[in-house]
Amino acid sequence: MKKINIAICGFGIVGSGTYALLKKNRELLINRTGLDIEIKKILVADMEKDRDFPEAKSLFTDKPENIYLDKDIDIVVEVMGGIQSAESIIINSLKKKKSVVTANKALLALKGFDIVREAEKNSVDILFEASVAGGIPIIRIVKDFLLSNNIEYLYGILNGTSNYILTEMTQKKLKFDTALKEAQDKGYAEKDPTFDIEGIDTAHKLAILLNLIYDIKVDFNQIYTEGITGITDEDIKFADEFGYSIKLLAVAKRSDGYIEGRVHPALVKKDSILSNINNVYNAIYVKGDFLGSSLYYGRGAGSSPTATSVVADIVEAAINIDKGCLSRKSGYTALSKNLKKLKLASIDRLSSRYYMRFSVADAPGVLSKISGILSRLNISIESVIQKGKSTSENSNLSVSIVMITHESLGYNIKKAVQQIDNLDITHSKTFIIRIEDFYA
Ligand code: NAP
Ligand code: HSE
Repeated sequence: MKKINIAICGFGIVGSGTYALLKKNRELLINRTGLDIEIKKILVADMEKDRDFPEAKSLFTDKPENIYLDKDIDIVVEVMGGIQSAESIIINSLKKKKSVVTANKALLALKGFDIVREAEKNSVDILFEASVAGGIPIIRIVKDFLLSNNIEYLYGILNGTSNYILTEMTQKKLKFDTALKEAQDKGYAEKDPTFDIEGIDTAHKLAILLNLIYDIKVDFNQIYTEGITGITDEDIKFADEFGYSIKLLAVAKRSDGYIEGRVHPALVKKDSILSNINNVYNAIYVKGDFLGSSLYYGRGAGSSPTATSVVADIVEAAINIDKGCLSRKSGYTALSKNLKKLKLASIDRLSSRYYMRFSVADAPGVLSKISGILSRLNISIESVIQKGKSTSENSNLSVSIVMITHESLGYNIKKAVQQIDNLDITHSKTFIIRIEDFYA
């Protein structure tokens, strides 16, 4: 039986999950592939740390060159995260003609094209299923199954940590920080959780998907990115009263002459599918021109689901080595030769309905000042909720006024917020959330 030797770089949440799966299901994998995948080395930063699987310690090294210079290693699995060290290990491994499996969305979003070119140059595989939506095989879906379709749009809940926090705040009334701590304890969050809660991790994943579905090389900095840190219990309650829940969405859409690529919290109708994706679960709702709509759902983060994606890639790379058919299709391959020159649209140019929360003095005339500004900027109001009583005695108190607008241009909303925030009746910054009226 052919043996395929691998090295795992990183032995944290994903690395130890990958180790556990390969050990526990070794016989199953041998029966199904005819290949024996053996872990030859494991790269860690701290050789002395106490960890699960103490028996793995004999495989540890803290020197990357022990991995990429080892002629016996066929596949390098990069699950350590970060940019510089991870990039160096990946590029050096590819140069040494080793196939690479990575879960590193941050690196791919910034350097994906360079990495794929290096893999192509060396005729080896670069596989990255675990980089987007943890245990959902969405990379295979867009790069294989949907290869023949033009993608009209894609809406994704792509960050397990944020979705977990929003769900816990909504269903159990937990505080933001308590819910974040739980997500960290469960192994969902990034090493620096601001990547999760500020939408950056979702934007990394969206950049990878945009590259694959629209044949464009995305400038990551052009993706409009807003996270969930501004969302309060009050917003969740108001959204509920209007018939919505709040989700952190990644949106990719093709329009005439431009592409939309944006990440932000959104109000989604409570009876829509995406509204009912909860906890660590992710979902991607995609419309292809021939397939029509389809939905992919599963656990978006955590050790075992992510390990399942990583091992799927290891097995694919191993079979390709065995059959001598490496470097068949990275997903970026054709794209690097046929890139389209489509720009991402500025968020200001896009229209949508908006949820606007104003924190203002509880005094007569406030509503008319706000609605005057909105009307001069062509923003019409669909509905309003005002909590609190207006009396002359309590005009120093803050009250929240919440409005839902009709479809309005992003630029006009921005101008309105600037003007309203400059009024003396405004106590703190106006908070807005886009409303996504998709039909799932
Ligand atoms: P983690 O728990 O922090 O583990 C990182 C591991 O990499 C640790 O074992 C660490 O070593 C090792 N490491 C880090 N920098 C190193 C360096 N310079 N040299 C040698 N070893 C180094 O992270 P994780 O959650 O497993 O995530 C790993 C990657 O998978 C990241 O790119 C992440 O974005 C991605 N990902 C994570 C999930 C998830 O649910 N967690 C899902 C999908 C993708 P020590 O143990 O010695 O400190
Ligand atoms: N931190 C990421 C998340 C891990 O919460 O979705 C999976 O990519």
